[in-house]
Amino acid sequence: MPSYPHFPENCTSLLCKYLTPTIFEKLRNRKTPSGFTLMQAINSGVQNPESAIGVYAGDEASYEVFSPLFNPIIQEYHGFGHEDHHQSDMDSTKLKATDLDPENKYIISTRIRVGRNLNALPLGPGISKEQRLHVEDEVSSALLSLQGTLQGNYFPLEGMSDSVQKQLIEDHFLFKAGDRFLEAAGLNRDWPSGRGIFHNREKTFLVWVNEEDQLRIISMQQGGDIKAVFERLVSAIGTIEKQLTFMHSEHLGYITSCPTNLGTAMRASVHIKLPKLSQDKEQFQAITKQYHLQIRGIHGEHSESEAAIFDISNRRRLGITEVECVQDMHDGVAALIAAEEKL
Ligand code: ADP
Ligand code: ARG
Repeated sequence: MPSYPHFPENCTSLLCKYLTPTIFEKLRNRKTPSGFTLMQAINSGVQNPESAIGVYAGDEASYEVFSPLFNPIIQEYHGFGHEDHHQSDMDSTKLKATDLDPENKYIISTRIRVGRNLNALPLGPGISKEQRLHVEDEVSSALLSLQGTLQGNYFPLEGMSDSVQKQLIEDHFLFKAGDRFLEAAGLNRDWPSGRGIFHNREKTFLVWVNEEDQLRIISMQQGGDIKAVFERLVSAIGTIEKQLTFMHSEHLGYITSCPTNLGTAMRASVHIKLPKLSQDKEQFQAITKQYHLQIRGIHGEHSESEAAIFDISNRRRLGITEVECVQDMHDGVAALIAAEEKL
């Protein structure tokens, strides 16, 4: 019988905050219909006590079966209660976007991604090798039928040369291998089988296959034209949705393996140079907090900044629309640039 996990004294993850012995007792023998257990859901946060969150869902039912643990985590991360409603809005004409950096002094590149998973299959932490290969097959076939500016090729990770893989990662196009949080969540099983990347010729439209989510649909380009990046993403999602049915619920929006990605599953970011503001940590933190932004390093999550370049993105994804996610990022970046210019 599973016993209550050990968390170090200084543990600050939402898992250790909300997995009280009482909740653990209530959930420890529960399983979803596809067989995903509480111990699987919490393993990443147990193995990595420095996690910010620490839990992953193995399927759509995990969010219901383990709701006494997931609900307070979702509430704290997104400010979204179990009675709240999530609404989607991808109408890019509603985005109030101005040219934030007309002289190209600060913004290096812009990227917006969403996570998606196929309906009626387990999520990555609970998926079998055969199911994962089926996802790869379905998704790559759909992507290979895209036309026009979205047209491109699919490159499986299996058989990709080390140098090509390394270059794609360095250029910010491809996911890294060996993430220890994903490893403990069961998301790296059978690596690299079933994983790959699709991209168009310009590498402005890309799709990651079978990483943390089954699809990460990405639009990106150099410079700060946030609206153009959003428009390309919206158009790509609309086209892909004609061929694939994604896992979605009225309450939680798009369902993802990590609760931080629920709802819109959208992260809109810029790589931005802030040499002065980043020295003034207090002001930098205050502005990012005010605009609900997250600061990441130059190689994505859990990486460091280099040459005062930061990855700045919306933090909230559930209970706000896609337009609002991008607006959060846009308005926050405008405030960051204004502060940098004053210093
Ligand atoms: P995710 O975006 O899926 O949450 P990461 O934080 O790991 O995942 O970022 C994935 C990759 O995307 C990393 O290589 C990161 O540097 C790159 N990236 C993120 N935002 C931008 C951006 N605005 N411009 C260029 N690359 C970016
Ligand atoms: N599981 C990691 C943590 O709790 C990452 C959480 C958010 N990031 C993500 N890629 N899902 O710190």
